[in-house]
Amino acid sequence: MLKRHRRIKLEYERFSRLNRGLHIFTILTFITLAMTGLTLKFSYTSWAVILSHLFGGFESAGFFHRFAAFIMIAVFVIHLADVVRIKIKTKESWKNMVFGPGSMFFNKKDLQDLRDSLKWFLGRGERPQYGRWTYWEKFDYIAVFWGMMVIGSTGLTLWFPEFFTKFLPGWFLNVATIIHSDEALLAVGFIFTVHFFNTHLRPEKFPMDTVIFSGRIPLEEFKLDRPEEYQKMVESGELEKHLVEPYQPIVIRSIRIFGTVALLSGLSIVIWIIYAMIFVYH
Ligand code: HEM
Repeated sequence: MLKRHRRIKLEYERFSRLNRGLHIFTILTFITLAMTGLTLKFSYTSWAVILSHLFGGFESAGFFHRFAAFIMIAVFVIHLADVVRIKIKTKESWKNMVFGPGSMFFNKKDLQDLRDSLKWFLGRGERPQYGRWTYWEKFDYIAVFWGMMVIGSTGLTLWFPEFFTKFLPGWFLNVATIIHSDEALLAVGFIFTVHFFNTHLRPEKFPMDTVIFSGRIPLEEFKLDRPEEYQKMVESGELEKHLVEPYQPIVIRSIRIFGTVALLSGLSIVIWIIYAMIFVYH
């Protein structure tokens, strides 16, 4: 194994095939929801009119919005089902799943890493020994749960108003529209600036980190990026089990094209929002 490793330069597999697929669908549906939703929200701008033509009119933009919402909710449900599957397979308790060492929720080490990262940014300390999930990755993950609760639930009340007003007052739909719309703006603003910067645009990864699509990361990069996890893997003898061959260059090139289109779409949306807010806000 080690001989082969030296010849082909094996890579560390960080994401399963399912998680990579789910992330690709999250990107596709989120960009579709943002484009179609913002076309409705900023319908008085010139760019919204152009986009609405591309979607076949404002009404059909609403149809695409609902279709993408359905897929996004399905992606969320599949992820939850996968978490339950992992729990059953590993026989872990829920407490350990949520608060244990491999969990996506914050723990004491995240606070220490945040403090040490700030010191490092100011040149007053070493780069922290990041583990499987950094505190900013956990924040992004939890934000998706929050977004699904707030944007998803209000979106459903707007989608099925007759059903929801059977037990909710009519004025709730007006409130739901404001919450949905403003929370969506916040989510779009956050993902296409902070998430993009932290994941792709920071100097270590610029212009993009392809690991979420390929699932693989060169061993040297893994060692440098997540020294704590690398150390744990070596000590437990698990590292070898996670080593895989890299993808063919054609696959990596396709991934880069997809990533570039996604990044440019997100950044364009941010520019359109800023333009609408500053120059033509109603
Ligand atoms: C995932 C579940 C979601 C559902 C079920 C949903 C559903 C809806 C519905 C039914 C409308 C009204 C559309 C119309 O009037 O034709 C709407 C509007 C809108 N949605 Fe969503 N949506 C979801 C997610 C999102 C996301 C993720 C974003 C942004 C990234 C978003 C942004 C918007 C915006 C900006 C509007 C326009 C609100 C306004 O008129 O000010 N939605 N949504």
